[in-house]
Amino acid sequence: MKIDSLRIQLLCWLLLPLAGIAALNIWLTYHSADHVADTITDRTLIASARSIAEQTAVTQGVIDVQVPPAALEMFNTGDADHVYYRVESHHGRLLAGYPDLPLPPQLPPTMRPAYYTGEYRDLPLHLVAISQPVVGAGAASPITVVVGVTLNSHDVMLRDLWTGAVGQQLALLLGAALLAMIGLNRGLAPLLRLRKAVLRRRSDELVAFDPQAVQRELRPLTEALNQYMKRVEQQMAAQRRFVGNAAHQLKTPLTLLSTQATYALRTADAAERQETLQALQANTRQTSRLANQLLILARAEPGSRRPRHELIDLAAAARQVLEQQADRAVQLGLDLSLTEPDEPALVTGDGMMIREMVVNLVDNALRYTPAGGAVAVSVGRRDQICVLRVADSGPGIPPAERERVFERFYRVADNAGEGSGLGLAIVREICLAAGGAVRLLDPPEGRGTLVEVTLPATAAAADGRTGRG
Ligand SMILES: Nc1ncnc2c1ncn2[C@@H]1O[C@H](COP(=O)(O)OP(=O)(O)OP(=O)(O)O)[C@@H](O)[C@H]1O
Ligand SMILES: [Mg+2]
Repeated sequence: MKIDSLRIQLLCWLLLPLAGIAALNIWLTYHSADHVADTITDRTLIASARSIAEQTAVTQGVIDVQVPPAALEMFNTGDADHVYYRVESHHGRLLAGYPDLPLPPQLPPTMRPAYYTGEYRDLPLHLVAISQPVVGAGAASPITVVVGVTLNSHDVMLRDLWTGAVGQQLALLLGAALLAMIGLNRGLAPLLRLRKAVLRRRSDELVAFDPQAVQRELRPLTEALNQYMKRVEQQMAAQRRFVGNAAHQLKTPLTLLSTQATYALRTADAAERQETLQALQANTRQTSRLANQLLILARAEPGSRRPRHELIDLAAAARQVLEQQADRAVQLGLDLSLTEPDEPALVTGDGMMIREMVVNLVDNALRYTPAGGAVAVSVGRRDQICVLRVADSGPGIPPAERERVFERFYRVADNAGEGSGLGLAIVREICLAAGGAVRLLDPPEGRGTLVEVTLPATAAAADGRTGRG
């Protein structure tokens, strides 16, 4: 069983060993109480036996045993104990008492008591036997005096001594548990307050928590929480900026569309109307492309699409894109070519997104390269990396702009062509999601643009299946 309550865990660590110690203590106390009760019983037994022995004397040649009442009354503690005695001559002749009271296994030497236990009339007894010389008794001396007592008083004594100790131990344990609970509650209070504060917050309330409000051990938690909120805050700000920009970008062409439509409806001149409608059509195409780019960027963002791990042949993906763009290249008067690697360039990722990445790179090259130029796409392998390069002979991107063009909605200032400034942002987002990178390299011969995408290569599967569709 897994205990996930900190309170229970700490209490267990504290109270279980304490309970173990208390149990050991109770066991030890029982034995020492038993020993004390034994000693007291033995002392009373020997006192009783001695007083019987001392009252024994020879009167007119006969051994006379006088049992003094005090010798038996000293056992009268109100616990209804039975006392038995037996006095015998040296030859084993019964002089007084109970003839079948058990004797010790070995008769004790003179003046030395022998303590033992036995059973008499079905009751357990503690007994003592002593040997006592009697002056004038001749061969009958020394006599043996045995006194035995039932265990009632002994057991009551043991119980009293022991239960007191047990009570103390339990009270101590209870006290420790109570104090531990209070201590834990006090110790956990700042953490619970922090929890309450987190739960009470609105989802957009991302102000840092005060790390000093909790104990030193918990500060890393508050700091981690604060760092996390900071990241969320930054993310939220970026999202707000993006939505604002997107709305702005959509608003301009939509306003234009509305103006163009109004103008087309108003004008009486057929040629003018035709021209306006054509402009409106181009504008619609652009706006729809913008919406499409926005959609793809949203999909490329981490967490927006279920992560896919398809095996993709990068050369096949490039070939597919180039086939789609071939007619356009011819119309634009551009030479579009593809160089494929000898060995397969396999990568793992989202097939649709990887193709979308190639589309954006080829689209840029075709869009910004003047007629008569060339666009060369190449796919290759460098150790464990697949490389896709798109080179064109166009105007190029100034080195100072090479980082900024990857920003969302950023377009180079003197760029006359159509576009929303999202293409390279989409490319970078897709590269990052696939564990790769994209950068702009210095073009060979100093002119044109060279974009390089690097993606981690995947070893070819045994059956050679690749995701192309
Ligand atoms: N091959 C290229 N040659 C010259 N300039 C380029 C090339 N590729 C990108 N650029 C410059 O970088 C800018 C950003 O490119 P990006 O693809 O992100 O946006 P876009 O092409 O303007 O719009 P779209 O979202 O429609 O692709 C472009 O506006 C352009 O100025
Ligand atoms: Mg573009």
